[in-house]
Amino acid sequence: MLLVFLYHILKLMETVVSGIRPTGNLHLGNYFGALKNFINMQNEHHCYFFIADYHSLTTHPTPQDLHGNVKQVLVEYLAAGLDPEKATLYIQSDVPETAELYLFLNMNAYIGELERCTSFKDKIRQQPQNVNAGLLTYPTLMAADIIIHRATKVPVGKDQEQHLEMTRQFSNRFNRMYNVEYFPEPQAFNFGQNLVKIPGLNGTGKMGKSEGEGNAIFLADEPEAIRKKVMKAVTDGGPTVPNQEKPEVIQNIFQLMSVVSSKETYDYFDEMYNTCQIRYGDMKKQLAVDMIQFTEPFREKIKELLSDEAYISKVARMGKEKAQESAAKTIREVREIIGFKSF
Ligand code: TRP
Repeated sequence: MLLVFLYHILKLMETVVSGIRPTGNLHLGNYFGALKNFINMQNEHHCYFFIADYHSLTTHPTPQDLHGNVKQVLVEYLAAGLDPEKATLYIQSDVPETAELYLFLNMNAYIGELERCTSFKDKIRQQPQNVNAGLLTYPTLMAADIIIHRATKVPVGKDQEQHLEMTRQFSNRFNRMYNVEYFPEPQAFNFGQNLVKIPGLNGTGKMGKSEGEGNAIFLADEPEAIRKKVMKAVTDGGPTVPNQEKPEVIQNIFQLMSVVSSKETYDYFDEMYNTCQIRYGDMKKQLAVDMIQFTEPFREKIKELLSDEAYISKVARMGKEKAQESAAKTIREVREIIGFKSF
């Protein structure tokens, strides 16, 4: 009885897929913006999280860089709390079924719609010397990633909405073409209000690795690096009247403090600001101390995992096996639908 019940619960759980680009290190913005949601989701859904190494070939990395980046990303996501026992964590190229589905989808993806895709137009501008077919068909590969597991939910940021719309288009087109109801329509998983926006350290905008040197605090940063970046954070001349509204640069420092420091610390500096007694140097010193303490468990875990080759390869193998089980089933069925039959 209990087993039957559990079986139904498991069947009702939705399938979630998300891809992680193996570029650079994880920073606090990634952690609060996306990763914490992945960590929550792994308890409630069938989650597939993968490292998108096929996608990264569009920028022609060297073999060493490719491998190193994939490993670093895997280690950091594990250190941050993704659990290979709960979610399926895998490397995209370990599941070549994805590439086969990509091939099939490309037969029904039209040059016109691919050329109109915003991310493609951006890439043409960014790398005019390397406008390859992989860039053009980035959306079909992303669609393959998602529908290979027949996922219904995709936790991604706003910048990926158009790719998701194209995924739905490709799924529906396949269904119509073969007169089947095979692929579902995956939807964006909006975690909206739970999202904490993390500002960068150089005044405006959010934390990001492309926003300039010193703007982001990485989970793997050494204490001294953190201290230096925090002490350089942009401030202003200080408040001149009590209870003055905080300008954006100051608001940002308080926002960072609100995620890594205690409430008492935050309230103390807030009070100092409101009574015009604040010394930004002191505030930044405290923020650096709290930031170093907050990131310490991540830093330690990353170091530990980086040297544990055996564990890392065990995780990758486990993920590959689980992801392939699901992907192979889809490919078998898709081949059948398309009309491939063995002789
Ligand atoms: N395009 C996504 C990004 O740039 C990464 C990605 C690749 C992805 N395949 C995916 C995200 C499938 C979700 C689902 O961040």
